[in-house]
Amino acid sequence: MKIIVTKDYQELSKEAFKVLKTVLDNNPQAVLGLATGSSPIGLYQAMIEDHKNHQTSYQDVVTFNLDEYVGISKDHSQSYYTFMHEKLFNFIDIKPENINIPSGATKDLQQACIDYNEKLSNTQIDIQVLGIGSNAHIGFNEPGTSFESETHIVELKEKTRLDNQRFFDSLDDVPSKAITMGIKNIMHAKQILLLAYGKNKAQAIKDMVEGAISEDVPASILQKHDNVIVVLDEEAASLLKHEK
Ligand code: F6R
Repeated sequence: MKIIVTKDYQELSKEAFKVLKTVLDNNPQAVLGLATGSSPIGLYQAMIEDHKNHQTSYQDVVTFNLDEYVGISKDHSQSYYTFMHEKLFNFIDIKPENINIPSGATKDLQQACIDYNEKLSNTQIDIQVLGIGSNAHIGFNEPGTSFESETHIVELKEKTRLDNQRFFDSLDDVPSKAITMGIKNIMHAKQILLLAYGKNKAQAIKDMVEGAISEDVPASILQKHDNVIVVLDEEAASLLKHEK
């Protein structure tokens, strides 16, 4: 695991963009795994700026998002479909047909899992962007999820719903289920780029980097992946041994 500690979120986003840009420069047909949440927003802004200023093209890029809420429509203001369009896709030249986001708004959720998994197994993600939950979840793979899991439906933990409450009017409005890539799908990516900032993530980062590999700490499996770059701000890195 390569760990880059930056002084703040702006620097973190710049470093993350450098990693992603290298992948795009080497392969204009790259397959990108993308995350929602606050951690990658600066990275997405850097991608938009770069597209505007340097014409980096996404015409041949394919994307796969990690997850989506269940029970809210695609066009709901808090759906991950809406998030990705508002934060990135509307501002780059990606083809709509190259965007893949699991569907949480369908009646047959099991079929939605099978379909997404099928798409994932027919490709290999070149770089998977990840955030991390304060309980060390990746995607919506909560503590206790099997390392062998593929795309599946999850019941969101109270902590995750509370963390996400800030985006909804009330806790009751936060969906209780999501569809997510499994840990096995995430581990299949060629490269992983995990971003975290703020004190709230410090313990999860410590557990991920220095703790035992355990299904109770989903992100700890990344210790077994041979191409992981973790970009942190000082606060998120503050409990790591080498930072003391
Ligand atoms: C989002 C996702 C989640 C988030 C995590 C951190 O697609 O899969 O695992 O990455 O909850 O969220 P933020 O970045 O908002 O702290």
